[in-house]
Amino acid sequence: MHPIARSGIFGLTQRELRLKRSLGSQELIDRDQKYGGRHFKPLPVVLTKGEGVHLWDVEGKRYLDFLAGFSTVNQGHSHPRLVKVTREQAGNLAHTSRAFYTEPHGQLAEYLTKLLGWEKFLPMNTGVEAGDTAIKVARRWGYRAKKIPTEQATVVFARSNFWGRSIAALSASTDPNCYTDFGPYVPRFDKLPYNDLVALELKFKQDPTVCAFMVEPIQGEAGVVVPRDGYLKGVRDLCTKYDVLWIADEVQTGLGRTGKRLAVDHENQRPDIMILGKALSGGMYPVSGILADEQIMSCLESGSHGSTFGGSPLGNRIALEAVKIVEEENLAENARKLGEIVRKRLEKIPKDIATEYRGRGLLAGLVINKDFAEGWDICLKLKDAGLLTRPAHGQILRISPPLTITREQLEQGLDILTTVLDNYKST
Ligand SMILES: Cc1ncc(COP(=O)(O)O)c(C=O)c1O
Repeated sequence: MHPIARSGIFGLTQRELRLKRSLGSQELIDRDQKYGGRHFKPLPVVLTKGEGVHLWDVEGKRYLDFLAGFSTVNQGHSHPRLVKVTREQAGNLAHTSRAFYTEPHGQLAEYLTKLLGWEKFLPMNTGVEAGDTAIKVARRWGYRAKKIPTEQATVVFARSNFWGRSIAALSASTDPNCYTDFGPYVPRFDKLPYNDLVALELKFKQDPTVCAFMVEPIQGEAGVVVPRDGYLKGVRDLCTKYDVLWIADEVQTGLGRTGKRLAVDHENQRPDIMILGKALSGGMYPVSGILADEQIMSCLESGSHGSTFGGSPLGNRIALEAVKIVEEENLAENARKLGEIVRKRLEKIPKDIATEYRGRGLLAGLVINKDFAEGWDICLKLKDAGLLTRPAHGQILRISPPLTITREQLEQGLDILTTVLDNYKST
């Protein structure tokens, strides 16, 4: 074999590469753009393989992944345990629908409820469906338990929230890119400033039709906005005082990402409804869901909700393993420790380059000074240097690698980032 035929860096043999692709990156991108929808603008790199914290493009170049599929691949790419259970379960029984019982459904529900401390778990597929489910449960509860007059239940959201792209989610959005020209919108969705307990209390006091307040404990897509200490406790207290359900959207922050099992654990708070997604299946298969106590979850009786794929044996078996990996490999603790390193290094970057560092654990955002560079251009340079990420809202570089990352790998990625920033003006 030629000495460079199998490289420890690229990991694939030349033959494997040839077999894998008949087209180069540019041709693959051209085909994608010709036949695919235009609603997303990917970075110009075509990926073909992932392992742990690394990704490879079709030419065999290796990258460090600092995005983790928008905080989904917390367990690392192709985690051997996830690959194993996926193969086993797919080879045994992948799908039945919930027309019948299967073992993984109850197994996952038992594991999650005991681990996280709610009485019931209801599985869906994507984050947005779980958000929608939480709102359905809350409206039902509003009519049946709180006795809100018919058709008047109001749900309050924090401004700059992001919980997906459905009509309900964009009706809750304050981002014109998200909602413009998609109306009419879902009625009785009110939006209040994030991190503002005074505004929240005023609303609750004045409006007895509020059934729920839905909020991210850290706003991810808004650019990693961390509320002040005490905000989550304040939300809990107000929701309890005014008989409003607190829905916590932890699709992005949940399962180790912020250095705790859940982001609400930073203030030891317990929402009424917890929404999980993304890392719940480590990217192997879309699995999301909500957790709540019996009294709330029972508002959805037989026939009032459902999903063809939600609760499938394949999805639930994968999710069970994915959460066990987060627990058994202490990924929250790794995120907490390594998050401190990210903070220390990125806070030192001069303000004319990056105006702000925000984050908790391994959910971080570096705000690139607009006078210095466009976030997108920095991401292109990072890609050339072997590190992949994307900006949120143009200027906020996301730093959210798989939580399996080692200190050495993290430092390597941060070296790439700081070198690219240092050299940017001179290139
Ligand atoms: C906090 C939050 N909720 C919900 C969603 C929607 O998840 P999905 O894209 O799986 O529908 C996202 C996606 O980024 C999110 O960050």
